[in-house]
Amino acid sequence: MSVVSGPATGKDFFDREDEVKAVVESLRKDNILLVAPRRYGKTSVMREVERKLTERGYLCLYLDVMHVHSPKDFVFWLAIAAFDTSPEARGSFLENMKSSFVRLGERLKEFEVSMSGFKAKFAEGVKEEINDDNWSSKGYDVLNAIKHLSEKNCICIIVDELSECINNVKKRDEETAREFLQWLRSTRQTMSEDLKFIVGGSVSFKGIVRNFGSLAWINDLKTINISGFTKEVALKFIKKAFEDSGWDYEEEIGLKILECVGAPYIPYFISIFLSMIFEDERWLSEEDIEELYNSKLLGAHGKGYFDYYKQRLGIYYKGVLARAAEDILREVCLAEQGFPKALAFDLFRRATVIEDEEKFMNLLYDLENDFYITFDGEHIRFQSKVLRDWWRLYNV
Ligand SMILES: Nc1ncnc2c1ncn2[C@@H]1O[C@H](COP(=O)(O)OP(=O)(O)OP(=O)(O)O)[C@@H](O)[C@H]1O
Ligand SMILES: [Mg+2]
Repeated sequence: MSVVSGPATGKDFFDREDEVKAVVESLRKDNILLVAPRRYGKTSVMREVERKLTERGYLCLYLDVMHVHSPKDFVFWLAIAAFDTSPEARGSFLENMKSSFVRLGERLKEFEVSMSGFKAKFAEGVKEEINDDNWSSKGYDVLNAIKHLSEKNCICIIVDELSECINNVKKRDEETAREFLQWLRSTRQTMSEDLKFIVGGSVSFKGIVRNFGSLAWINDLKTINISGFTKEVALKFIKKAFEDSGWDYEEEIGLKILECVGAPYIPYFISIFLSMIFEDERWLSEEDIEELYNSKLLGAHGKGYFDYYKQRLGIYYKGVLARAAEDILREVCLAEQGFPKALAFDLFRRATVIEDEEKFMNLLYDLENDFYITFDGEHIRFQSKVLRDWWRLYNV
C-alpha cells in the first residue's frame, strides 16, 4: 500500500516520469527551482532525482532547510550534509575543511574518522567557526571542500524547502535574506562547472522574493512545476494500489474515487482515501465509494488529516491575519463560481483594519502555497475539492 506521510520512495514512488526526466535533463545546463504547493510530492520527486543521478554515478547532497533561520545555520547544515553523503570521500572533504576551518583541524587532530563521537566533534567545530559575519566566506570554503567529494563528476546539491528558509531569514531581517539570496546566486555562477543545485520552492516563492526586491537573485533558476497527477496516471496509481492490496479493481471504481477526491489529482489525498477504503472489508460498489467518502474521508477518520489545515492557520498566520484567512476561506468554500478577489480584500480590511493591498496579496500567496486556494483570474477558488468539501462541512 502507498505511503501517506513521508515522501514516497522506492517501490512506493509512482510515475512523475516527465518531471523527473525534465529535472535530470535540465540539470545539464541549468540549476532548478522545483515548485509546488504543500503536499504535492516535491520531496518525493527530489529523492527520485537523487536516486537516478546516483545510479548514473553522480554524487548528490540532500538537505532540508525548512527549520533553518539564518545563513550561518544553512552553511552549518550544508557541511553536515556533505559529511554524511560519502563515507568513501569523507577523508578528502575533511582535509579541505581543515585547511579553512583551522580550529576544526586542531580539534580533530587526535581523532580518527572511524572513532565514535567523531561526527559530534566535527559538528561542534564547524559550528564554532561560523558566525553572522563570516558565513559567506565560510560557505564558500564548505562548497570548495564539497567539490572534493567527487573529483570526476559534477556534484548535485538538493536543497529542499529553500523558500521556507528564506522566509524564516526574512522574518528576522530582510537585508540578510537579500544578501543570502545574492550569495546563493553567486555560488551557482562561480561554481557552475562543479556544482549543480536543485532547490525546492513554494508557489509563492517568486511573489515573496519579488516583494522584497530580490527576484533578480533567483531568476537564473529554471522553474519546473509539480502539479497533480493526470487522470490517466491517477487511475493507474489507484489500480496498482488495489492490486498491491489484493483487491479486485474495476475502472468504474477508480473513476468514482477520482470523482470524489476531485481534480487536481494529488497523490497524497488519493492515498489517504485509499488507505480508508482498504480498511473496510466489504465488496465495493460505486455507491460504497461515495458513502466511504462522506462517512470516512469527510468524517471522523479524515479529521486527523484535515484539522491540520484549520490548525495551521492559527499556528503560521499571525493574529489578525489568521482571522482574515478564516473569514476569506469561509466565503470561498461556498462560492460555486469562485469568490471575487475584490470582495476578499473587503473581508481582509474588515478583519485586520489594514488597507495595504500588498499585505493582502501576501496573505493570498501564502494561502495559495499552503494548499488552500488557487487563483482563477480575478476570482479565488479552493485548490482541492476534498478540502473545500471539508471546509463547507466544518468551518462555515
Ligand atoms: N510520486 C508519488 N507516488 C506515490 N505517492 C506520492 C507521490 N508523490 C507524493 N505522494 C504522496 O504524497 C505525500 C506527500 O509527498 P511529499 O512528501 O513528496 O510531498 P511534499 O510536496 O514534499 O510535501 P511537503 O509540502 O509536506 O514537504 C506522500 O506521503 C505520498 O502519500
Ligand atoms: Mg517536502
